[in-house]
Amino acid sequence: MIILSEYLKKIEPMVYNAGKNILSYIGHDKSVEYKGDINLVTIADKTTEKLIYDFLHETFPEDSIMAEEGNFFEGVSDYTWVVDPLDGTTSFAHNFPFFAVSIGLIDKDKQPVLGVVYNPFFNEYFSASLGKGAFLNNHPIKVSNVKNIAQSLIGTGFPYNRRDIMNIIMRRLQNVLFNVHDVRRTGSAALDIVYVAAGRLDGYYEQGLQPWDVAGGLCILREAGGQSSSYSGDQINIFCPETVVSNGFIHNDFLKIIVK
Ligand code: IPD
Ligand code: CA
Ligand code: CA
Repeated sequence: MIILSEYLKKIEPMVYNAGKNILSYIGHDKSVEYKGDINLVTIADKTTEKLIYDFLHETFPEDSIMAEEGNFFEGVSDYTWVVDPLDGTTSFAHNFPFFAVSIGLIDKDKQPVLGVVYNPFFNEYFSASLGKGAFLNNHPIKVSNVKNIAQSLIGTGFPYNRRDIMNIIMRRLQNVLFNVHDVRRTGSAALDIVYVAAGRLDGYYEQGLQPWDVAGGLCILREAGGQSSSYSGDQINIFCPETVVSNGFIHNDFLKIIVK
């Protein structure tokens, strides 16, 4: 039996270090490279991933690790650490201060049991473990109580293949924008999800996310009282290609305006 609160305590200093490493590149050469036509990677992504991977592998040698920039390890336990060393690389590359380290631990059913999302620029450390509540810098957080979709503030993101699916992305955005108070785009899915957990956003939707984009935030969202599903309302795990999260109160009305 693993004790999740102990795991959270163990990784905390390393996550702060990872954030420090990211900030150390601000004002310096970030060695920006293109992974696709609009998908970037920087030296900060790579060195931060190495730092996180080395720590996790040494500290939890039985667990598997899956990290965005290519570090994988197959362990012998039922648990997998899912790592996005720098979620929001495009924001980071432009010095737009919405980026984060995101780490989740998933069980054999691919459900997150622990999550950490840390924005080093604002020094905001979001964390949760199953059954123990969600926290921002050690203070408990919970979702908003906005019940009327027309009064909701909604986050979204645009996938890297958006040029191929522009019509549906814009049709959906148009319908959401028409029906809610307003829409925000931070450029970090992990932050969008924990902002719903903290009541700063009332909902968030995006398609085409990768497991590392959601693994850190999902446990925090659920522990803060939030709801998650696919665009059709089905239960999701971190591998689901469609993500809708909300404060729960608006969830059904939110699904109705996310046109297919
Ligand atoms: C991206 C961010 C962004 C989302 C993209 C993700 P990355 O992750 O979370 O907000 O719109 O879909 O891929 O590439 O910055 O780690
Ligand atoms: Ca990401
Ligand atoms: Ca990333």
